[in-house]
Amino acid sequence: MRVLGIESSCDETGVALFDTDNGLVAHRLYSQIEIHAEYGGVVPELASRDHIRKTLPLIQQVLDDASMSVDQLDGIAYTQGPGLIGALLVGSAIGRSMAWALNIPAVAVHHMEGHLLAPMLEENPPEFPFVALLVSGGHTLLVDVKGVGRYTILGESVDDAVGEAFDKTAKLLGLSYPGGPALAKLAESGKQGRFKFPRPMTNRPGLNFSFSGLKTFALNTIQDHSKESRAPYNLDLQTQADIAYAFQEAAVDTLLIKSCRAMAETKYQRLIVAGGVGANESLRQNLNLKAKKLDFEVYYPRAEFCTDNGAMIAYAGSLRLAAGHTEPPIIKGMPRWRLEDLDAI
Ligand code: KG4
Ligand code: ZN
Repeated sequence: MRVLGIESSCDETGVALFDTDNGLVAHRLYSQIEIHAEYGGVVPELASRDHIRKTLPLIQQVLDDASMSVDQLDGIAYTQGPGLIGALLVGSAIGRSMAWALNIPAVAVHHMEGHLLAPMLEENPPEFPFVALLVSGGHTLLVDVKGVGRYTILGESVDDAVGEAFDKTAKLLGLSYPGGPALAKLAESGKQGRFKFPRPMTNRPGLNFSFSGLKTFALNTIQDHSKESRAPYNLDLQTQADIAYAFQEAAVDTLLIKSCRAMAETKYQRLIVAGGVGANESLRQNLNLKAKKLDFEVYYPRAEFCTDNGAMIAYAGSLRLAAGHTEPPIIKGMPRWRLEDLDAI
């Protein structure tokens, strides 16, 4: 079965073709970073308009890459949520209408299920059950995964997502959007031990997270060391890097503590990490060390499939289509959608 996948939930247009016999055939991504950079964050209306411009040409390119024509498709999968409503409606409208016109089934995919299943696109994919640490710009989740669609949320952020905390702290440090990768880069030249950030909610039981305090701690530290009392702050480069280091160290450490706690509680042997922050090298290195020590396996998608992409949507959609799941001919976006509300296959 050849499935076209369309991702348009935020600031990236992703399109891919997944073949259930031959695996991932083609994938392309168009990032809107340049459009949003001058505003310091995603502007929803600009995002929707750009998805409108980019989705159809990207679909054509993916079909060309695969040397296929549109009538060779067997199904279409598109992200229906969660995400920005305008952006979601673009992918949903295009995906659902194409399927209608071609008289093939369509399936709506949950963006976080896409992230969660992305490690399955790699060699040596994990077997069920596993714990998933999903860390993106909008979500921080620890999920008990017993199978496709069999999800129980073990913990989640009560305020900011970890990616959001990276982005907001990066902005305070004067880094350009998207801040996560820029902060990680700056942290490489930071000194260990100069600043010590808290590890929120780690000294009490439970698997929930809170990251907004880390951003506030960063703001206070920046103000204490800035020559200006308000933004734009004025820090010397080394202080900037040391704050980035301490922030990243605390965020990573917090994710590590809670992930290990989830592994101990479930007694599972496998942890998967996905979502944009899953591309963070410090998180990967530290988790790998911990996993070795505690004797469990960690699985990641390749870095480009940690952040948003069409491949994960085409893949998740292919599993659901193969199981007979289809979407009625209704164009719909779901800005909020709980992972636990998905049907099992
Ligand atoms: O999964 P994703 O591409 O989009 C959402 O579904 O939100 O995640 C984007 C988030 C952003 O907050 C971005 O700053 C963060 O992932 N991110 C990183 C890194 N790469 C992306 N954060 C820390 N280190 C990175 N290397
Ligand atoms: Zn995402």
